[in-house]
Amino acid sequence: MTTSYEPAPPYHEDVSPGSGALPPRAWYASSDAARLSLNGTWRLRLSPTADAEDDAFARPGFDTGGWDEVAVPGHWVLQGHGAPAYTNTLYPFPVDPPRVPTENPTGDHVRVFDLPDGWPGDGEALLRFEGVESCARVWLNGEELGEFKGSRLPHEFAVGALLKPAGNVLAVRVHQWSSGSYLEDQDQWWLPGIFRDVTLLHRPDGAAGDFFVHAAYDHRSGQGTLRVDSAVPGRVLVPELGVDAATGEPVTVPVRPWTAETPELYAAELVTAGERVPLRIGFRSVYVEDGVIKVNGRRILFRGVNRHEFHPEHGRAVDADTMRADLLLMKRHNINAVRTSHYPPHPAFLDLCDELGFWVIDECDLETHGFVDLGWRRNPVDDERWTPALLDRAARMVERDKNHPSVLMWSLGNECGTGAGLTAMAEWIRERDPDRLVHYEGDLSCADTDVYSRMYADHAEVELIGRREDPGPEARRALPFILCEYAHAMGNGPGGLADYQRLFETYERCQGGFVWEWIDHGFTHPELGCAYGGDFGEELHDGNFVCDGLVFPDRTPSPGLVEYKKVVEPVRIEGDGPGGTVRVTNLHDFADLSHLAFVWSYEVDGRTVADGALAAGPDVAGLPPGASAELKLPAPSTSGEHAETQWTVRALLAEDTAWAPKGHCVAWGQLPVDTPPAPPAPAGAAPHRGERLITLGPASFDARTGALRTVGAVDVADLRLDVWRAPTDNDLGAPWQPDDRIGLRWRELGLHRTHERLDAVDLTGDGLVVRTRVAPAATDLGLLTTYTWTASEDRLRLTVSVVPDGEWNVPLPRLGIRFGLPAAYGEARWFGGGPGEAYPDTRAASMLGLWSASVDELHTPYVRPQENGARADVRRLRLDGGATALEVTGEPPFWFSARRWTSEELDAATHRTDLVPGDTVWVHLDHAQHGIGSQSCGPGVLPRYRLEAAPARFSFTFSSRSE
Ligand code: GAL
Repeated sequence: MTTSYEPAPPYHEDVSPGSGALPPRAWYASSDAARLSLNGTWRLRLSPTADAEDDAFARPGFDTGGWDEVAVPGHWVLQGHGAPAYTNTLYPFPVDPPRVPTENPTGDHVRVFDLPDGWPGDGEALLRFEGVESCARVWLNGEELGEFKGSRLPHEFAVGALLKPAGNVLAVRVHQWSSGSYLEDQDQWWLPGIFRDVTLLHRPDGAAGDFFVHAAYDHRSGQGTLRVDSAVPGRVLVPELGVDAATGEPVTVPVRPWTAETPELYAAELVTAGERVPLRIGFRSVYVEDGVIKVNGRRILFRGVNRHEFHPEHGRAVDADTMRADLLLMKRHNINAVRTSHYPPHPAFLDLCDELGFWVIDECDLETHGFVDLGWRRNPVDDERWTPALLDRAARMVERDKNHPSVLMWSLGNECGTGAGLTAMAEWIRERDPDRLVHYEGDLSCADTDVYSRMYADHAEVELIGRREDPGPEARRALPFILCEYAHAMGNGPGGLADYQRLFETYERCQGGFVWEWIDHGFTHPELGCAYGGDFGEELHDGNFVCDGLVFPDRTPSPGLVEYKKVVEPVRIEGDGPGGTVRVTNLHDFADLSHLAFVWSYEVDGRTVADGALAAGPDVAGLPPGASAELKLPAPSTSGEHAETQWTVRALLAEDTAWAPKGHCVAWGQLPVDTPPAPPAPAGAAPHRGERLITLGPASFDARTGALRTVGAVDVADLRLDVWRAPTDNDLGAPWQPDDRIGLRWRELGLHRTHERLDAVDLTGDGLVVRTRVAPAATDLGLLTTYTWTASEDRLRLTVSVVPDGEWNVPLPRLGIRFGLPAAYGEARWFGGGPGEAYPDTRAASMLGLWSASVDELHTPYVRPQENGARADVRRLRLDGGATALEVTGEPPFWFSARRWTSEELDAATHRTDLVPGDTVWVHLDHAQHGIGSQSCGPGVLPRYRLEAAPARFSFTFSSRSE
């Protein structure tokens, strides 16, 4: 007979949140209490399994001399030990909760420290971990303190009795995998380690304990009501308000309210017998009224982003300067809200949000997305054995972050399906903090939430929701609506932002959204330039789906961020150009416009001929939110005859702010005045056929094929119709998208391998006509293309006429010509849209002007190379090659791009370093481009931005210049 005996699971595999840690409390620091940072160099021994080594290493005297070193905060996998791994939803181990694999990289960390001179002998001392992934067991001086899970949550242990003046041995065993990993299946890199600060905190006798600042604002009376509930009684002092009150006692006084636009913080102190804790108090109230989220009595609009913590070298160990840099960059791009996807951020981040002014959705460290593929079987949020762990996570978030005015909503987590565990969390949170809203996206019934939140709903559905005509539970229709994720910023894009914004501004219920996401999580890599999923030999991975941010990994803004800034600008500038009237609309939720100065310029063919300050006056400065004012522009100093003229009006910061200097441009608008008729087309030159060449005006052509060879002194190669673009991530779409994945259809059809059949080369009295049929193999679809060349003595005109042949039911990627110039043609100057990239549905930020850039600068370095760099609305282009230049005008205006590789090479590249300049500059002059959309996770291109195959005709006029 055999008996089977199953031992109790080891601590890292049991469902409990851990043991030994103190109850969670508010995060604060006071100068009365000593603190010792234990960040720095620690000793590290990595084992392949959780139990490969015993715990002897935790004992004082153990010799770690032969061990490696690791920086704390940090992840060992980014410091030469193992490698990071990326999956979106898939658990990278067999799903058998709460069990994890035997292969479980385990890092034993040791740090020996002395107490600094003068470390107080009284009171208590706490050892605090701000974040350890995913499970830690802790010893101090050989005594075991406990163990915990909850990677992005704080844990504290009482250690006063164990401390020695010198030679304290802190030992921490960290397991990469634990039962907690099942609760942390967020779409990001798996990065084990002690990745946030470790600190020893002195707690003097009579120190403050936990406390809860309640600071409400009544917009009707202009009064704030403050009550600080404190575990340790004391007094609350707010000198500026003359407040000196006992803890627990409410005080009502007139105050300036806190909002994301006006982040008024009052310096205050909580004074207990043994400690003075500095506080920064922001008075504000958030609630749902009439189906709308209101702060201080007003509807707010989220212009938000989802922010993961990421650094291209340090992973989720993000330093204070980087946190601040993120927020400054957001403010400068008119972003007013952050969802801390998908876990509470480093606590210091929320201090910065209070200070700089952001609305925050603070999200719990909880995601069980990998269960979706199992039909949500065994989902921990639907299994009561896990509820204590879920409640522990909720409490650690709420208790730590409850004193931040910036936090408006608690989010239960992300993509966990549904279950009683979530309800338990929501109930606990409401009980503990009835003054904030509860958010969760994954339960369409909205049973536990105060807002209806969705991700990636398309424009049509958002419109329906806005009208409160969406199907679904009646109760849900009464709730406010937000898109907690939208506009998937993967690679080139997202498209359609302006169209969403219009909905948010039209429907009261639609209170904005949070672009997915802030930053590309690409790691700096010596060979690949920038690495993503699969670059570390992962068994399962999701490729570059981890690079879907508005900023590149080094935090350089991508064109998507520039577009977002324009789309969400808090002042709209429009008007009547010919009439010389500009209308300014204040789109802030609280602020007037007194912080802005308005300037105008008048441009003739893109050149500024006059500019000045707009005498806006008190009407504009005091313009309340939602109101508009009309202003007269000065009379233009130039008539603008035969030139294109326009006003550009900008709203600039009138003074330095905490987030940008005086003069920073917040919003702008352009008002066209006059568009001249097109100049007469070049004509008059007759073609001449030579033995090898045909000449026409300034140009020569191959006599047999009709191919353009030269324009003046400029050599031109391979000019032809081009409809291909290296598919963007949004063109390709996500694997789970059932409908119209356009990039795949393009490739199926073979648009990347079209051939041109030459049908005729005809000389006419005034030019040359070349007829071709452009088509890929194995289909009867084609594009009948006629190139008609005419010229004057020094100008050459090409008219391209395209007629689709056959039943095209696929839109075209682009429609235009491409040709090669020698590598020397490396500088571009144009009158058109700029300075950055634009596509049909990402062109709000494209400003009409005179711009210049080198060909290298025209390229947008998406982490996975793809179509990029088009400039919109180009009227005139000059490509300089040193002694000679090629000039092009377009009728109508065109899209221009130039690069040192072909679209085919761009398409083949998988990493930045695959792109190697050749000896040709490839120039694209496009009549049209297909939109970008957001289908790498969200909806595709809106019908109005699709480039349907249809007859088209467009012209370019070329000339050359020699120095
Ligand atoms: C959402 C998810 C995010 C991210 C995004 C796609 O479903 O909440 O974490 O995966 O899709 O990038």
